[in-house]
Amino acid sequence: MKGLILSGGRGTRLRPITHTSAKQLVPVANKPILFYGIEAIRDAGITDIGIVVGETHKEIRAAVGDGSRWGVEVSYIEQPDPLGLAHAVLVSEEYLGTDEFVMYLGDNLIMAGLKELVASFRERRPNSQILLARVPNPNQFGVAELEGDRIVRLEEKPKTPRSDLALVGVYMFDRHVFEAARSIKPSARGELEITDAIQWLIDHGRRVDPTIVTGWWKDTGKLEDMLEANRMVLDRLAERREDGVEVDARSEIQFKVVLEQGSRIINSRVQGPAIIGRNTTIVNSYVGPFTSIHYGCRVENSEIEHSIVLEESSVLDIGHRIADSLVGKGVTISRAERKPRVLRFMLGDHSVVGVL
Ligand code: TTP
Repeated sequence: MKGLILSGGRGTRLRPITHTSAKQLVPVANKPILFYGIEAIRDAGITDIGIVVGETHKEIRAAVGDGSRWGVEVSYIEQPDPLGLAHAVLVSEEYLGTDEFVMYLGDNLIMAGLKELVASFRERRPNSQILLARVPNPNQFGVAELEGDRIVRLEEKPKTPRSDLALVGVYMFDRHVFEAARSIKPSARGELEITDAIQWLIDHGRRVDPTIVTGWWKDTGKLEDMLEANRMVLDRLAERREDGVEVDARSEIQFKVVLEQGSRIINSRVQGPAIIGRNTTIVNSYVGPFTSIHYGCRVENSEIEHSIVLEESSVLDIGHRIADSLVGKGVTISRAERKPRVLRFMLGDHSVVGVL
């Protein structure tokens, strides 16, 4: 069995971060989301992993390499345009051959892992097995309608959903999915939808088994979901202090806090769950719960909570507490040195700022 991780796409919902970077590499608890997927597939006993890449392929190759770090063999499959999940399957046909495979959306996180799911697929041997989860907002997902434990219909982002069972970003298939993906037509949004391919399998007498997941799962395509995933992962991290960490006598570290190599906490309070990255310095500041600050950052005379800060950014002398935020790489947020008292920005396209 092989693994297929979809790591192309446009990432429009996470702009401006995705103007310059792959959304699958945004860190959750200071580790790229994509790495959680690789680990989940590896932990399910699969060592051949194909990663579908689009225009951010260079960055993804640089971050993942050949997979030897995880003891797996990674191959890259280029998808010239993000024409849909079923299109991503089609461009991977040569790599997958006649092997069964587990397909994983590279911006998804599934806490329970894939071990049991892959084992049950291998044992039951349906043509496809899909994961479903109950969600409060099914119209934003692919939705499945069941009769007993049979799937009768799948719909992509329906206006009036027939159930609250959303497709989770993990699917298992055998080779019949290629015929299905070749037979369907693009949807109204111009994509070859995986829901249509699975519906085609059902309509042509193939067996598609549903599994309802009860543990948490997150599609991190939007800011709120990214912050929630960060919350969930931080909540499960054990407290840790790596080498070369400095916490001065005036500082207070409370609850679960991970201090990565060479991080320095000076006259500050860090209230976990939180993670402070390698060589990041926190001075005269408060870092509140559910915050991940990546490597090489500086937080001085400021307060921040429930946020993700990417590498080499600075938050300096900010009079208000920053919350619910995603700060990109190499960003500086600082207080202007002279009057007039104005808000002064240089923001990338599609940035979102909330000021009261
Ligand atoms: P989506 O989040 O559904 O699509 P997207 O990445 O284009 O994002 P947005 O809707 O914000 O514009 O994609 C789910 C995952 O699959 C994600 O990791 C990107 C990947 N993907 C591909 O690899 N190829 C594709 O053609 C598409 C549509 C997505």
